Amino acid sequence: MENNVRPASMQRITTPALANRFIDEQVAAVRAQVGDKKVLLALSGGVDSSVVAALLIKAIGKQLVCVHVNHGLMRKGESEQVIEVFGKSLDANLIYIDATDRFLDLLAGVSEPEKKRKIIGGEFIKVFDEEASKLKGISFLAQGTIYPDILESDGVKAHHNVGGLPEDMQMELVEPVKLLYKDEVRVVGEALGLPHAMVYRQPFPGPGLGVRCLGAITRDRLHALREADAILREEFDKNGLAGKVWQYFIAIPDVKSVGVKDGKRYEGWPAIIRAVNTTDAMSATIEEIPYALLHHITDRITHEVEGINRVLYDLTPKPIGTIEWE
Ligand code: XMP
Repeated sequence: MENNVRPASMQRITTPALANRFIDEQVAAVRAQVGDKKVLLALSGGVDSSVVAALLIKAIGKQLVCVHVNHGLMRKGESEQVIEVFGKSLDANLIYIDATDRFLDLLAGVSEPEKKRKIIGGEFIKVFDEEASKLKGISFLAQGTIYPDILESDGVKAHHNVGGLPEDMQMELVEPVKLLYKDEVRVVGEALGLPHAMVYRQPFPGPGLGVRCLGAITRDRLHALREADAILREEFDKNGLAGKVWQYFIAIPDVKSVGVKDGKRYEGWPAIIRAVNTTDAMSATIEEIPYALLHHITDRITHEVEGINRVLYDLTPKPIGTIEWE
């Protein structure tokens, strides 16, 4: 328990030099803990697990086995980035599992949000567990626990984390960034050479697009969501909003309305834009996206994404609206 408490004397990591010192200390600590044994890590592509992966690759190279489970609810290009960065650039020992069909088959026809979350979380553990049991000689489990997770371990985050792993997994934990705050994890990630976009990735719920494809998920609506979301992200990037807005995404409800396309009736879904600013996600305000940009995004989404015939902008702060639609 004691080593779960951040010492008052611990300096905040704000510069590359401080990050490099932290990295050197952790590399030595991990090597001392692990020896020549193997370590397993569920690599989601999120900031925390990515930084832990990069740190462990530096410390123990191929003794780290990363498992990336694609649950089919990732944003466009995310699993590809994990493969590119970890499998190729960092030459990691990476096992990639495309479990899209397993997840989407189980989710078919399920509209209740909590049930969807349970299915996604439960299946994630199952897939990971199956993969882990195929591997031989793994002694340690690495996790991207960060200090706020420890401070908030009153259950709040528990239901949040899809990456929560089976309790009966009898392995000693390796948690090199558990005393760091998020901003420090990012500084360490950059010092380790991870791409800026990965290290400054906006928060993304564990159940992924599953909470944004509202109601019962279908493959066609999920595809439309992923494409519309990619356009929003691209436009925010191009127009200097990506580094400014805390979280932005598209949600698509299970509702169709009538529209007109090429002179013909065109029934489609509405894409709802959410773009919020917050410090702690407990409350949030709405970003005032310039109207010209909203028009441009609307034009692109309605013309480029099959199945969408309207774009709406959610102006509801939190409270009363939560950030996700779910
Ligand atoms: P709400 O919708 O409750 O969301 O206002 C607050 C923040 O939490 C994120 N969120 C999650 N994060 N796993 C996570 O790691 C989850 O299951 C999850 N669900 C919501 C949400 O995106 C927002 O930033």
